[in-house]
Amino acid sequence: MENFLGKQEDKIVEPDKKKTADIFDLDRERQKRQEGKEENILKKIEQEMSEAEERFGKLIEEVSKRYENLPDNIKEDLIFHNREILGNVIEYGIRRGFSEEELKRLELSAILHDRDKAGSVPEKYKDIKNYILVMHAKVAAENVPEILTDERLKEFQIEGDPEKIRQEVARAILEHMGPRPGFMTDILKKFNEDMKKIGEDGIRYPEANGKISEALLAADMKSLAGEGGRKKVLKFRAGDEFFIQQDLNLVEEYKKYEIDLSQGEAALISGFESAFQARDMQKDKRNWDWINADIEKSKKVEYAFLGSEKLMLWEDVFEKMKHYEEKRRIKEIEGSLEVA
Ligand SMILES: [Fe+2]
Ligand SMILES: [Fe+2]
Repeated sequence: MENFLGKQEDKIVEPDKKKTADIFDLDRERQKRQEGKEENILKKIEQEMSEAEERFGKLIEEVSKRYENLPDNIKEDLIFHNREILGNVIEYGIRRGFSEEELKRLELSAILHDRDKAGSVPEKYKDIKNYILVMHAKVAAENVPEILTDERLKEFQIEGDPEKIRQEVARAILEHMGPRPGFMTDILKKFNEDMKKIGEDGIRYPEANGKISEALLAADMKSLAGEGGRKKVLKFRAGDEFFIQQDLNLVEEYKKYEIDLSQGEAALISGFESAFQARDMQKDKRNWDWINADIEKSKKVEYAFLGSEKLMLWEDVFEKMKHYEEKRRIKEIEGSLEVA
């Protein structure tokens, strides 16, 4: 009996064990290959980054110098952001198998995309709010022919028709302002209304189209979706009357449902909404995960808001949002029952 069972067991168990072992080996092999592949990609990204910083070093310096007269914190933010975007586009390009020449054009677009955030406001627009923020892409795009001369492109060892390259880079810069999420839409709307008041045309940025444009926009949206983007939005909202009012309105709205929301938390909600929209607006779903990774990381950060000592965590604010939604829905149902 024992023998028989033993034999049976042998018969049943042995092949299974082997099969399991095979699968494990295969998995391990696959994982190793995957890790090797990822390591290779990371190495390539790092290498391309240092090559780009060397090749375009002078141009990067020129752009940084333009920020010289800005307050230190803004200057540092811009320099940090430009480097971040350069890293982002390189990662994007390498993961998507962009050619060397495509990478160079993409890198140029990234280096120049926020170059004119340091510009000065023309006298006749001095009362238009957020003029630089709205116009920087248009101005930078217009300046591309002057910056990327034939000689300069040759110096960078960029191949291809110089005119076409300038056009492609300028278009990517212009289109990095394409349909923007959340609060930027409000800024644009307000800007166009103000321009209309002084009898001027507003602006409408075209949607990102084509490899270079889409890559630059995704890279910029990744930055907006991350911790740095949230901090930028919080700083901006704390200093802009229109947004201060918007946030205070939300505070009042929550109060109606006995939920204690601070102005900073209202601004944080808007910041996260922009981040989610930055992710959701991606036509290419592969960008979704790429951007979402930064959103997830940014949820763990404690955020400060001007004039408040208390640091904010997304988790707590999200709880309040959930409560608000629940209470609002209950009230809505109650309301509809009353009507019925
Ligand atoms: Fe920009
Ligand atoms: Fe940017």
